Amino acid sequence: MYRSPSHLPEDARVEIANQLNSRLSDGLDLHSQIKVAHWNIKGPQFAALHPLFETFAVSLAAFNDSIAERAVTLGARAYGTARHVAKASSLPEYPQETSRDLEHVRLLAERFDQYLDSARQSRSVADKLGDTDTVDLLTGIVTEFEKNAWFLRASLES
Ligand SMILES: [Fe+2]
Repeated sequence: MYRSPSHLPEDARVEIANQLNSRLSDGLDLHSQIKVAHWNIKGPQFAALHPLFETFAVSLAAFNDSIAERAVTLGARAYGTARHVAKASSLPEYPQETSRDLEHVRLLAERFDQYLDSARQSRSVADKLGDTDTVDLLTGIVTEFEKNAWFLRASLES
């Protein structure tokens, strides 16, 4: 571990940074999956969903950057190559042959739910270890992606 401006003990910083790296792998994987949906979507809802998916990707890219930088601030390294992410992500692979608009919505909604569950679990770890700042970061992510998950679920309602 590097020196850190954080006042947390090193064992806590290691544990939180491990959580952050896991969430970074999930976030980078999810970002690539959202882009695949953005590129390949076809159907009557294309005009609404193609740009909506891009807004998800843009906000997730910013969160991924914040998560990585929080891990390094805590004295760890941030791991994020495509090869690393392919091994470390907890999300299922995206079926890239999918084209139908609402099928992409369903697939992304499932993955947003999984991403949110893991983010909440990591937030609990940070909370238990007294890292209010990582809790805040993860709360911002949970709030934004709960909203995004609602956008997707609303698109699936008849
Ligand atoms: Fe685009």
